[in-house]
Amino acid sequence: MLQVQNLTKRYGAKVLAVDNLSFQTKEGEIYGLLGPNGAGKTTTLRMIATLLEPSEGSISVAGFDVRTQAEQVRRNIGVVNGGMGLYDRLTGREILEYFASFYGMGKLDIAKRIKELSTALEMNELLDRRAGEYSTGMKQKIVIGRAVIHNPSVLILDEATNGLDVVARRAVLEFARAYKGAGKVVIYSTHIMSEAEELCERAAIIDHGRLIAEDSIQALKTRASAQNLEDAFFTLTKGAN
Ligand SMILES: Nc1ncnc2c1ncn2[C@@H]1O[C@H](COP(=O)(O)OP(=O)(O)O)[C@@H](O)[C@H]1O
Ligand SMILES: [Mg+2]
Repeated sequence: MLQVQNLTKRYGAKVLAVDNLSFQTKEGEIYGLLGPNGAGKTTTLRMIATLLEPSEGSISVAGFDVRTQAEQVRRNIGVVNGGMGLYDRLTGREILEYFASFYGMGKLDIAKRIKELSTALEMNELLDRRAGEYSTGMKQKIVIGRAVIHNPSVLILDEATNGLDVVARRAVLEFARAYKGAGKVVIYSTHIMSEAEELCERAAIIDHGRLIAEDSIQALKTRASAQNLEDAFFTLTKGAN
């Protein structure tokens, strides 16, 4: 579904943000991209989403190459990246309609899709209020809704629960679980190990742009003789540096 091969990204001559990174995901899984701040997660995800060009290496999304088939990649990918900029004066529904129009969806398809998302994300009558009145949690639902309006096969959640309260956070995690259940892939990027442990089947641990380990959550813990993923993370990254 998603294949990353020998991916490298340099910013200028000095910063090596991603260093020869390889991993691949399967259909129907939540795949964790885990590492401390500055590890290279966002840089990697931006290259997957065709927002940033790789220095070296290749990426394919649903069989499409990010360099030569960027348009098809964009149709197969949705991104939630922490930014929550919404037009305050539009309603949630209008924002979703606006994004749907980018994908050339027809009016009926758009209405049907918004109805599905309204149910899945429990947005209901709030959809017809202006975004300026929304809570942080409701804003994040709209951000997620607009990322999946075109029903992409790969959903990228980059630190998607940052700054959310416990209820809103739960809603994001539940949406991720439901989304992969439909045979899709969710890439869940976070520095919060407990969240990844709760949510992901498999994960890549990265540090200083390099892959430290990639395996099922259980296997990562076993390999590090750790009780939980956070302990495993520290053991594995310490061994590598
Ligand atoms: N636009 C940029 N220019 C220069 N360096 C950058 C830029 N964006 C990120 N970096 C650097 O690249 C490294 C990886 O950053 P990032 O991908 O944002 O990591 P993460 O998302 O894991 O916190 C960091 O050292 C960061 O300072
Ligand atoms: Mg980041």
